[in-house]
Amino acid sequence: MAELIDGKAISAQIKEEVKEKVAALKAEGKEVTLAVIQVGCDPASTVYVGNKKKACAYTGIRSLAYELPEETTEAELLSIIEELNDRKDVNGILVQLPLPKHIDENKVIRSISPLKDVDGFHPQNVGALCIGEKGFVSCTPAGIIELLKRSHVEITGKKCVVVGRSNIVGKPMALLLLRENGTVTIAHSKTVDLREITKQADILIAAVGKPKMIDASYVKEGAVVIDVGIHRMENGKLCGDVDFESVEKICSAITPVPGGVGPMTIAMLMYNCVHSLSLQQ
Ligand code: GUN
Repeated sequence: MAELIDGKAISAQIKEEVKEKVAALKAEGKEVTLAVIQVGCDPASTVYVGNKKKACAYTGIRSLAYELPEETTEAELLSIIEELNDRKDVNGILVQLPLPKHIDENKVIRSISPLKDVDGFHPQNVGALCIGEKGFVSCTPAGIIELLKRSHVEITGKKCVVVGRSNIVGKPMALLLLRENGTVTIAHSKTVDLREITKQADILIAAVGKPKMIDASYVKEGAVVIDVGIHRMENGKLCGDVDFESVEKICSAITPVPGGVGPMTIAMLMYNCVHSLSLQQ
């Protein structure tokens, strides 16, 4: 039976560490503030934003909520971001995605000061990650590295396969594994003979966006399997991109869904908010 990598417990540990750091900063008279902007009322976004605000309250980070109507123009949003960029009392700025169709997401991401971009989405932060300079790292892949390290999974020299090439997960994930001295392959929807590639992985990261697609036939015996997906099934239960039942029988360690990668994203956002103070100094 595979070891369960407990994202709930590890994320709680990180939030505890952040809480202590925030309290220590407060004692020095420094407050950590995150501005969270949501445009429109996409129900999933409302849940995510609510969880981010809750995590801020728990860790002692001050959160400023901007709940803007669906009709907000791009210019109005850019003007709010500009104001937040200039405010000395705001350390982090997060614009919840997706944005309504009439707003250019890339333009908005580029308008956030790279020094306050706690999501790590700004091209300057992506570039910094690529060349090994300081900056913010996208929260989900950063959380996966923490899951591996705190579960004592060795990355150095290991064959790592990332399935998925999104800007938010797949690409930064591959760069982070490379930074940890993994031998990294990125596979995606156009990859020929995907199984042949994934079956070589010592560490397999599934970020394909398809429920239960990665079954045991894709996995090498003894591999460590990280499941980034989260999907609601017809029976109301959640599942990931990995077919947990078949894969857990052959892998050495696996993240469950829910309770694996999911809780790590918010924990790493809190970590990035604290980290922002040292970047801004
Ligand atoms: N939408 C889904 N995930 C994320 C995230 O990590 N950050 C932001 N800003 N929006 C998202």
